[in-house]
Amino acid sequence: MSDLLRPVVRPRRLRTTAAMRDLVAETTLEPRQLVLPMFVREGASEPTPISTMPGVVQHSRDSLRKAAAEAAEAGLRGVMLFGVPETKDALGSGATDPDGILNVALADVAAEVGDALVVMSDVCLDEFTDHGHCGVLTPEGVVDNDATLARYAEMAVQHARAGAGLVGPSGMMDGQVAVIREALDAAGHTDVGILAYSVKYASAFYGPFREAVDSALQGDRRTYQQDGRNAREAVRELLLDIDEGADIVMVKPALAYLDVLRQVADVAAEQGVPVAAYNISGEYAMLEAAAANGWIDREPAILETLTSIRRAGADMILTYWATEAARLLRDA
Ligand code: PBG
Repeated sequence: MSDLLRPVVRPRRLRTTAAMRDLVAETTLEPRQLVLPMFVREGASEPTPISTMPGVVQHSRDSLRKAAAEAAEAGLRGVMLFGVPETKDALGSGATDPDGILNVALADVAAEVGDALVVMSDVCLDEFTDHGHCGVLTPEGVVDNDATLARYAEMAVQHARAGAGLVGPSGMMDGQVAVIREALDAAGHTDVGILAYSVKYASAFYGPFREAVDSALQGDRRTYQQDGRNAREAVRELLLDIDEGADIVMVKPALAYLDVLRQVADVAAEQGVPVAAYNISGEYAMLEAAAANGWIDREPAILETLTSIRRAGADMILTYWATEAARLLRDA
């Protein structure tokens, strides 16, 4: 009979020292796996703090270039740009104006960092529309899928022209990846890839982002973003996007959807496609708020959060902590 007070199997042996723990660690977290999302505001001469996301700003064109250079210096391999235009209208005209803020900012950053970073762009109309929706509306006020596709195609080509290496359609319109791929190829941008927001849920955790882009949205996005009760639907969206030509697929939000991320990562691995996850504004804000109150140890909590997203299957993570986390990892 075994002696219950003297276990034979002792998993603790592999936890005895830091060296032993490093030796058997299953998950890596490296600066090259992190992408920094950044906001740039048209007409701004100084960076403007975003109160709902302490530590994150709406950049001026100058401060954006500087932050991109710092991101490269810290060892990141990518940045994702969002534009905040001075004026908005029903069609989101600023999104396809070659002199619009996102297009000029993409060119600025591409000139600043060259090939050191993959410059990524958000292909979506919500920052540019006066109603705040991700697409154009029918006379009845419904988001018009197919009319929006034409806007996305034009927007993506302009981003490619401005210097984006990956365009990121985030509006959850059906067929958006296919139409963008075709438009990029027709314009000669065969080397520009698509980071598809394939699995994007309607989420309360986007709240702080809405301030970050001065969103005009009333209501919600439940007719186009996914329902949080569904996971099978995520696999369907994933397979469609891969079929339409997505180069990298993304799951968003990350933390409330780690189970979905795992399922998506398993299917994407079979399909040979890399997976990104977006650690979104509300996830950032929650941890920052707890840390500011002294309720949580900020730096280890950041690294534990990012590690959990990697462990769930993300090859890369979009996170507002990217530059700081890269420095923490480098100094560790
Ligand atoms: C749409 C877009 C959103 C985010 C990224 N792209 C907002 C939304 O879908 O409502 C959210 C990012 C975040 O919350 O950090 N352009």
